[in-house]
Amino acid sequence: MTKNDKNMKHFCTVPNVSKKEDFMRRKVIAGNWKMNMLPNEAIDFIEKFAPQVEKTNNEVILCVPYTDLFYALLTAQGTNVKIGAQNMHFEETGAYTGEVSGKMLKSIGVEYVIIGHSERRQYFNETDETVNKKIKAAFVNELKPIVCVGETLEQREANKTEEIITKQTELALQGLTQEQVENTIIAYEPIWAIGTGKTATADDANNSIKAIRDKICQIYGQMTAERVIIQYGGSVKSTNAKELFEMSDIDGGLVGGASLKPDEFAKIVNF
Ligand code: PGA
Repeated sequence: MTKNDKNMKHFCTVPNVSKKEDFMRRKVIAGNWKMNMLPNEAIDFIEKFAPQVEKTNNEVILCVPYTDLFYALLTAQGTNVKIGAQNMHFEETGAYTGEVSGKMLKSIGVEYVIIGHSERRQYFNETDETVNKKIKAAFVNELKPIVCVGETLEQREANKTEEIITKQTELALQGLTQEQVENTIIAYEPIWAIGTGKTATADDANNSIKAIRDKICQIYGQMTAERVIIQYGGSVKSTNAKELFEMSDIDGGLVGGASLKPDEFAKIVNF
C-alpha cells in the first residue's frame, strides 16, 4: 500500500447499514459444487435440501456443473432454491470450442453465474480483464454475477491483502453502471482459506469486506456501497457460519465443500 492509498483509506466509509431499520441487506448463501455431482446426485440433493430451507428469508443459490444445470433447474422448480453456473464465456456465440455463453445459460433459465473464481484464475488463465468482460456479458444476458476476489497467502503475509482485493474489485467492476454494481454479488474468498479448513477470523473477513465496500463507495457512491452484497468464502461450515454471517459487513457466503451435503448446507443456510 502506498502512502497515498493509506490516506484514501477512510475517504469514503460506509456506515453499518445492516442494522438500520430502513435498509437491510439480505443474506445470500450460495453453494459452489465445483466439479462434483452427477445429475442423479444433483436431483437427490435438491429433493432432500429444498424442504429444509423453505422457511428461510435468506437467498439460496446452488452453482452446479453445466451437466447438472437442466436437472437442477427442473428439480428446484417451485422451491426457493435458485440455480447458477460456475463460469461462462463473454462472447454470445462463435468458434470457442468447449465454451458455454451467458446467452446459453439464460436460455435454460439459469439466474446466477460465478465469475472469476480463484480456481479459474489459477488453472484457466482467467484475468481481471476477462472477469470484467464476463460480468458485462452476464448483465447483457440478465444473469446475476457472483464475482470472486481474494488474496494468496503470500500476498497476505506481505500485508497486501487490502491492496489486492480492492484492485481486483475495481478492475472487475470497471465500466459498470451503479445499478449493475448494486446487482453484482461479490464473494471475498482468501485463496489460502479455500478447501484448506482454514477460515479467516470473522473480524479479519469483516475488515477485508469493509475495505471492498469502501472502495465501491469511493467509486460508485455511498448508496451503491450500502446495497452491494459481499459474501465471505473459504472453508465455511455449519460450525462457523453463524459467527461469520452475523458480522456487520458479511452478507452471507460462497460455500464449496460443505455445500455437497444437503443437511450440512441446509444448516449453513439456516445459520
Ligand atoms: P470451500 O470452497 O468452502 O471448500 O473452502 C469455497 C469456494 O471455493 O468457493
